[in-house]
Order: sequence, then C-alpha cells, then structure tokens
Amino acid sequence: MFAVPRRRGTDYQKLFDRIRMENDGLPARPVRQWTPSKLALIAYYLKPFSEICRNGWYFLDAFAGNGANDAGQLGLFKGSALIGATQQLRATRLALIEADSDNARTLRTRIHRVRPDALILEGDCNERTREALNSFDNRGLPGFCVLDPEGLEMSWDVIKACSGHRVRGTPYELLIYFSTPGAMRVASVTDERMVAANEEALRRVFGGDAWLPVAEQQRVGALDGTEAGREYLGIYEQQLRDLGYRHVMSRPAFAHAGDRGLVYHLVFASSDDNARKIMNQGLQRAFAGQLPMQF
Ligand SMILES: C[S@@+](CC[C@H](N)C(=O)[O-])C[C@H]1O[C@@H](n2cnc3c(N)ncnc32)[C@H](O)[C@@H]1O
Repeated sequence: MFAVPRRRGTDYQKLFDRIRMENDGLPARPVRQWTPSKLALIAYYLKPFSEICRNGWYFLDAFAGNGANDAGQLGLFKGSALIGATQQLRATRLALIEADSDNARTLRTRIHRVRPDALILEGDCNERTREALNSFDNRGLPGFCVLDPEGLEMSWDVIKACSGHRVRGTPYELLIYFSTPGAMRVASVTDERMVAANEEALRRVFGGDAWLPVAEQQRVGALDGTEAGREYLGIYEQQLRDLGYRHVMSRPAFAHAGDRGLVYHLVFASSDDNARKIMNQGLQRAFAGQLPMQF
C-alpha cells in the first residue's frame, strides 16, 4: 500500500451526491436520517482503499439489505452493497449475504445489473460467512468487510472468520456497526423468563462471557446504562485487538435533533496504517459537525 491522498473539509451536498441513486424501479429500505452519513463513510473509504489495493481487493457485506435506502426527503441512496459493487476500481470479487428473502431477491436483481459475477447468498451470515469468504480464493489479497446488523444478530464467529481469512498480509479491514444500545438493553433485563435467552444472545455476540461482570454490575445498579455501554464497547474493541488488529477505533452515531439517542457505535478494525488514515479521513468527512471520535 502507498501514501493516502490528502482530503479536507466536509460538503454535505457532495457527501450525499456520492451515494445518491436514481429510482431503479426496485424496492428500497426506508431508513432514518442518520443513514446517509453511514453510507457516505463507506463511499469515502472505498475509493482510496481500492486505489491502494494495487493487485485487487475483496468486498464482503454480511448484512447486505436490498441494495438501496430510501431516506425520505433526503432522497434515495445506494446501500452498502451497491456502493461496494459500483466502485470505479472494481472489487476482484464481492460476496453479499442477506437473510430476508424479499431483500435478497431485490439485492440479486439490483447488484447483478452492475456486477453479474457478485456472489449473493440468501441466509444467515452466522452460517454462511465462511462459504462467502471461500469465494475469495486469493488468500493474499486485502479485503473490506461491512458488518451492519440491526441489533445483536452477529456472532463473534463471523468476526473471527473475516479476520482470519487473509493468510498473507494484514487481516481484512472490518467496519462493524456495534449495537451498544442493544447490549445495554438486553443485559439490563432482570425478568427471569428472559435472562437465559438474553445472556445467550450476548454470549454469541462476544463469543464468550467477558461481558458478564459488566451485566451483573448493571443489573444491581452499580453501573448505569451509559457506563455499562462504554464497558461493553471497550470489551468488544479489546477482543478485536486480541485477534491481532493494531488499530481499533470507534465513534458513536446519534439520531438527529429531537431524538438524541445513541444509535450504534461504528467500530473500525485494521492493521494497516494507510487504511487507518483513510478511515480517519472518511470519518471526518462523513461525520463532521457531530461528536468527536473515541479511540
Ligand atoms: C441494517 S440492515 C443493513 C443495511 C445495509 N447495510 C444497507 O446499506 O442497506 C440489516 C440487514 O441484515 C439483514 N439480516 C438480519 N439478520 C441477518 C443475518 N443473521 N444474516 C444476514 N442478514 C441478516 C436484515 O434483513 C437487514 O436487511
């Protein structure tokens, strides 16, 4: 990888233009106003990332949606999968997973118009990520994985599979939308009818019990939800470092005015210095004016 082009400032019109799409006659997911920034980040990142991956790159989207997002008055925007599929410096291979069959059918039609060779798997990414990764047969090429669940659907095994697929060079970059509010909410439940299922959900997300002491403190009121959320995020980040990632950074995303609640934490993991710089620049451009990043 070589030096990263310098970029400055934020222009929201340009930000939206980068991911805006024409109505293609297929369904689009209705989304809230904060979604375009999250999509723009992927677009800001992928262009320079694809430029530094001189021998090719892979793109995995494990929660691909249907390829388009309808943000109401803000307009129609490419989804993460379509952003990945329409990069000028094309991905060597794309693998997309979507559990909902209507979404998967739309995704297939939409993506195959621009990338007929994309692998599109309908099903649960917790079961199908390895199959998707196996289509990335050059184990020395870099890769970028978008992992965008709605809540606590993604098991730690997905992360491990993605991080371990590249055997020569740095592991695939991961962009994870971590549901801090989901962890906070689920862990705080004390109703005995739900505790076992909730604990199982968290065990899957973290791949173990590292979260449990925090949940116990949260349940007895020694930690409030915000404090516990910070702890869950910290544990998740540490686990990414323990997988070997040298750079793990996160930033919160909030709902817009009127509803200031935390929506998720965006967590980026990479061991490549240039990829980290590119992500930093992308974050500054996509989220300028919002709260600063946490490291
Ligand atoms: C937040 S949306 C992703 C949106 C997408 N990144 C975009 O830009 O349009 C999450 C998607 O994951 C799908 N999904 C939920 N659980 C899943 C699972 N276990 N495996 C694969 N997809 C899943 C949902 O149907 C939904 O379309």
